Amino acid sequence: MPRPGPILIYSIYQSDLVRFQRLLAGALPDVAIACASTPEVAASHLDDAVILYGWGFPSDMLEQMPKLRWLQKMGAGVDDILQHWRCGRQVLLTRTDGALIAPRMVEYVLGAILDKSMRFDTARRQQDRRHWNYFEVGTIRGLTVGVAGLGAIGSMIAKALRALGARVVGWRRSPKHCALVDELFCGRDALAHFVAACDVIVLALPLTDETRKLFAGDLLSRCRPGAHVINVGRGGLIDESALADAIRKRVVGHATLDVLATEPLPPDHPFWDNPHITITPHVCGPLVPEDVVPHFLANYEAFASGRPLMNIIDIARQY
Ligand code: GLV
Repeated sequence: MPRPGPILIYSIYQSDLVRFQRLLAGALPDVAIACASTPEVAASHLDDAVILYGWGFPSDMLEQMPKLRWLQKMGAGVDDILQHWRCGRQVLLTRTDGALIAPRMVEYVLGAILDKSMRFDTARRQQDRRHWNYFEVGTIRGLTVGVAGLGAIGSMIAKALRALGARVVGWRRSPKHCALVDELFCGRDALAHFVAACDVIVLALPLTDETRKLFAGDLLSRCRPGAHVINVGRGGLIDESALADAIRKRVVGHATLDVLATEPLPPDHPFWDNPHITITPHVCGPLVPEDVVPHFLANYEAFASGRPLMNIIDIARQY
């Protein structure tokens, strides 16, 4: 029986593509595999591809893929793909398990918190002036950290922070017991109480119709004065102009943003010049081929033998 294929691997990161291709070709030597990092290169493979393994794939091109049966997103979030999802039930959509990228995201969140609490910016400014002046640094043990979204990624973040002595509170949309947090807030009505309880708020939610701009002006105004907002979910979770406003009023003290509503962030975007915003270019959960390909291959074997795949997206729920 021929193995399912051809597979189209798509990534906007050209250098990763070579590694993805090497790993897939090594494991599936008898399957046709094509690679593309631009829509122009992808165009010549759309007619034939049965499987798409992609990151940054232009979702409007899905309509030009008549043979597509399975789309495995390289990352954990599928909001971009669902934007133009007209495939119906004949295409299976799966995503990479958040647990595979969560360890690095935990490190990012810790780095963002420590960068502020250890006051490395103050130290560097002093160093520039060769100035030795004692200052007090903070500690994670003294903080209440809120994690919004307690899926695989949020849960690992909560666990790590709690192990370091933070008081960790969580927020999720629907009630479900969670032993990883000291206090759990559930549902939209509890969101204002959740943000009011936190020194640091970590957003680890998927972007759906329900969560889009969830963190808007009314909510941000309820933050503890000087709160640190860290977004590792999706830029669209936050109303960016409301965030700028909350920072101007010092309700939010600092924002560390790895994800932005528009990526790449346009050069004229006001966030670039804001000293109270730290921007990183969507780096906190890198899709390291060696880390994520085993998940694809396990799903490939399931697909090939008609068994259920892992991490299937419920299209109605959008995650
Ligand atoms: C990263 O943003 C991902 O979706 O995995």
